[in-house]
Order: sequence, then structure tokens, then C-alpha cells
Amino acid sequence: MKFTYYGHSCFCVEVKGKKLLFDPFISPNELAASVDIDAIEVDYIFISHGHEDHVADCVRIAKRTGALVICNWEIYQWLMKQGLDNIHPMNTGGGKTFDFGKVKCVTAQHSSSLPDGSYGGNPMGFVVMGQKNFYYSGDTALTLDMQLIPQGSPIAFSILPIGDNFTMGMEDAVRAAHMISCHTVIGVHYNTFSHIVIDTEKVQQYFERNGLELKLPGIGETIEL
Ligand code: NI
Ligand code: MN
Repeated sequence: MKFTYYGHSCFCVEVKGKKLLFDPFISPNELAASVDIDAIEVDYIFISHGHEDHVADCVRIAKRTGALVICNWEIYQWLMKQGLDNIHPMNTGGGKTFDFGKVKCVTAQHSSSLPDGSYGGNPMGFVVMGQKNFYYSGDTALTLDMQLIPQGSPIAFSILPIGDNFTMGMEDAVRAAHMISCHTVIGVHYNTFSHIVIDTEKVQQYFERNGLELKLPGIGETIEL
């Protein structure tokens, strides 16, 4: 499965030939200046929560591509007001089968206001079960609820925040990976802002010492999973 990183918590995973883009935040991200946002092809856009650093380019990309946006009920209503109509609302605990596989919305422990201050509902993570199962936690603290995630569907890889300050840092991300029995982690939500700058070498070593593989693809890089 192809995984392309677009910086911060934005990435695209190809599942059964469909391109799934998560938390588009590219044009405001100076580190992602090399990414041509208007050349990104996408079939689905997932929004984990309402914060600017996860929704910034959603409308722009959805309008150009006609991608179906998957998000919670409150963000669905907000995106309708921004002129989008190709949106599928879900909420925590809910599952739905699409043409690439099944999506389950899971708990994330965070907050979720929208850029204009509107209420953004509850933040969510996603488990995607199409080819290899994967879990994107969204912005979250470590939570015992993560124990529920692999039941019935082992997780081949997970995408977890490692930048600390607003979300899990390396210690809690390692504990999360162990909790969901997942050996391969792609780290996101780091180095974009001064509050979340990390020593990537130290974090890599910490994962390695704990028996896990941490992948940190460069911005614009595609890796095979
Ligand atoms: Ni956030
Ligand atoms: Mn964030």
C-alpha cells in the first residue's frame, strides 16, 4: 500500500486503488511549500477534528477533486455552509463500508473547535479495514480506549502523533502502539510549529529500544507499507 506524507498530519493512503487523504493542512505549512496542492489526486478526504491544522485545505481540495469528505456531524454541517455537498457524516463508534473497505470511527481524547470558532463536535480517530488494516489516531492523548482498537481486526500499521505538547509525545505513542499491538508506526504532528519541535533521532532510537519501527517519511515522499 502506498503512503504519501504531505507534512504535519496530512497523508494519503492508497487502498484498493482509491486515494484516501487525511487532515489536509498543506498551503499554510511552510515546511510543505514544495507540495503542489492542486496536483493532489484524491477520492476521499478524512477529517479527524475541526482544528485549522487539520481542515485548512479541505474545501479547496474537495471542490477541485469532487472527493467525498468523511467527518463528524458538526464538521459536516460546517462544511455544508462552506459550499461543499459531497460529505458523509459519521460519529464516534460508527462504522460504514465504502468501495475501498470499512471505516470505523474511534475515540480520540482532544478538543475540536473549527477555525471560525464554531463547535466542532468530538475529535475522532479512524480504523480503515480495506487491504491491510490501519489506524490513524488523529490528535489524541494516550487513552485506555485504544485497547479496543485491534479487537477483531489486527492493525498492520498506525499513524500516531509524536510531537508532544498538544498530543501524545514519544513515550505515550510507544505505549499506544503496544496497546494496539502494532509494530509499525508512522509519526506525524511534529516539527510543524515551535511547540512541537522534536529531536527526531532521539525519538527514532526510543521507538527502536522499545521494539517498534518508527517511519518518518519526508514531506512529499511516498513509502510502501
Ligand atoms: Ni488539534
Ligand atoms: Mn493538531
